[in-house]
Amino acid sequence: MTPTAADPAVGLPARVDLEFQPSGTRVRVPPGVTLFDAASWNGIAIDSTCGGHGTCKKCKVRIADGSVPTSPLDARAFSPDELRAGWRLACRAQATADLRVEVPPLVTRPKAATVGVGRQVILRPAAQKRYLELDEPSLADQKTDLERVVAGLDDLELRVDLGVLRSIGSVLRAADYRVTAVIVDDVLIDVQPGDTTARLYGIAFDLGTTTVVATLLDLSTGTPLAVASMLNKQQPFGADVITRISAIMMEPGAIDTLARLARETLAELTAEVCAEAGVDASEICEVALAGNATMTHIALGIDPEPLGVAPFIMAARQLPEVLAAADLGLPVHPRARAFMFPAFGAYVGGDITAGLLASGMDRDSRTRLFVDIGTNCEIVLGNRDWLLATAAPAGPAFEGAAIRCGMRAAAGAIEVVSMTTDGLDLKVIGDVEPAGLCGSGLVDAVASLVGVGLLDRSGRFVPEQDALALAPGLAGRLTKLGQERVFVLHWLAEPGDVTRSIYLSQRDVRELQFAKAAIATGWNILVDEAGLAPGDIQQVLLAGSFGSYLSPSSAIRIGLVPRLPVMRVVSAGNVAGEGAKMALLSVRERAGALALQEEVRYVELSDRAGFNDAFVDQLQFPA
Ligand code: FES
Repeated sequence: MTPTAADPAVGLPARVDLEFQPSGTRVRVPPGVTLFDAASWNGIAIDSTCGGHGTCKKCKVRIADGSVPTSPLDARAFSPDELRAGWRLACRAQATADLRVEVPPLVTRPKAATVGVGRQVILRPAAQKRYLELDEPSLADQKTDLERVVAGLDDLELRVDLGVLRSIGSVLRAADYRVTAVIVDDVLIDVQPGDTTARLYGIAFDLGTTTVVATLLDLSTGTPLAVASMLNKQQPFGADVITRISAIMMEPGAIDTLARLARETLAELTAEVCAEAGVDASEICEVALAGNATMTHIALGIDPEPLGVAPFIMAARQLPEVLAAADLGLPVHPRARAFMFPAFGAYVGGDITAGLLASGMDRDSRTRLFVDIGTNCEIVLGNRDWLLATAAPAGPAFEGAAIRCGMRAAAGAIEVVSMTTDGLDLKVIGDVEPAGLCGSGLVDAVASLVGVGLLDRSGRFVPEQDALALAPGLAGRLTKLGQERVFVLHWLAEPGDVTRSIYLSQRDVRELQFAKAAIATGWNILVDEAGLAPGDIQQVLLAGSFGSYLSPSSAIRIGLVPRLPVMRVVSAGNVAGEGAKMALLSVRERAGALALQEEVRYVELSDRAGFNDAFVDQLQFPA
């Protein structure tokens, strides 16, 4: 095997090469990763029914080349001859050097769930339950209650929460020493009477500035049991993070109010998903939360003011890695834990870390562009070898704000516009009379008008006489409201009465041009930084709720994304929420999210020479 470059800082190789047989798959992983994780991370199935917790002893592999020390559990799983032949339990075997590993055929199927963008995640939640049948104490056996429970969990090195000690004595005695230990990571959070192992639950939250989504998961099967969403109760304080930070800067006590509103939102969603699935909220033993830096700071009561002013500093990149769910005011198990995704920067937050995890950006050999479009647009370019990230201030056009007839994507919003030179067709959310134009409709309308020639490349409506020649079926819609030229998408009253119509104004087109130019400048700078050309991008992922509704061909037409075959521009959906689910279902995936901190390089746009020139170039629509 090729020797691996050593990292002088730690004296260990920066990566180790593993070759799995019989498939011959070669993978490179950080040293210290277990063979079980390295395999499952790369889609190689190793037998297991415990998901890598060290209890099933099914994850047997043989080290054919290289060496791995034996673990205490290996001695119980293998004979001395087998150990000498290189047999090890994969979930206990850490790879610290290059290895060749033989994986026997599967006897059982590992439990896995499909989450994220088609990602197969082998279940290994941080939360687990173990049923114990313990001996009653006697004068000959005076172990403490805790020692008795911990002895039944001797493969784990546990820390114990004080709350457990307050109830352990009464629970053990009332349940005849038949109890279930509830463990999250390495913390014993509860000892429950009887066998409750079948009920293991967690909630994944996507804490958005606008919308908050909660998914209740059965952690032993990976199945989502209930999903609920609602508007963030902080909405009255402003539509975007900047207005919320401003409110906090201007109003003493506003941080407490906003923190309370975030918690109330999360608590209401918790109650809703639990009621729908018939799960008692006290059965939730872990939550994972993905949100942008401002939302997570506020939810934890941390002043976000420094995020809003240059040089844009966060209180911490990784808010305490393991928090109590109670710190978020969640009405779940009183000792439940919470995992929050770390942020890359003030404007590329934990929601993007979660999104990258769900879309597998760090594991794919293809060079991909990830774009999460919103008031603040986060952009990541790269593949499994390198990743560059930046944030572009796109403004509120895509949210329907700052657009004369703009509205959110709600009932009555025109969400799809298609045109030929003879006429147009609209799709309206809820199939009702149009009331306005949402972001995806705006992009479609502008792309269609560029397509039929009624908007020129500079973004100006063509003169009326040209319009008649170019698109006879549409020319009557190109008119004026006061001094401003507008294109009418829908007449609410008589055709010709522009004051009662849904229209797109010249200024609206300009707003969209500014927004798309900010985003296109962002990805162009990343492409340059990587020494690539836009055509080298193999896939564009449109993330976030807006990205899911955006038409890829319209996005290409206006130059919002690189000009690629349309099949290569795909909606990734709510990847932040998917990432949060993955973090709940697999500690390996969670470690992958934390590792992204080292793998992603943040590129600041605002102080960059040439940014303004690049921005002006991008205002035009592509030829
Ligand atoms: S996976 Fe169960 S013991 Fe290793």
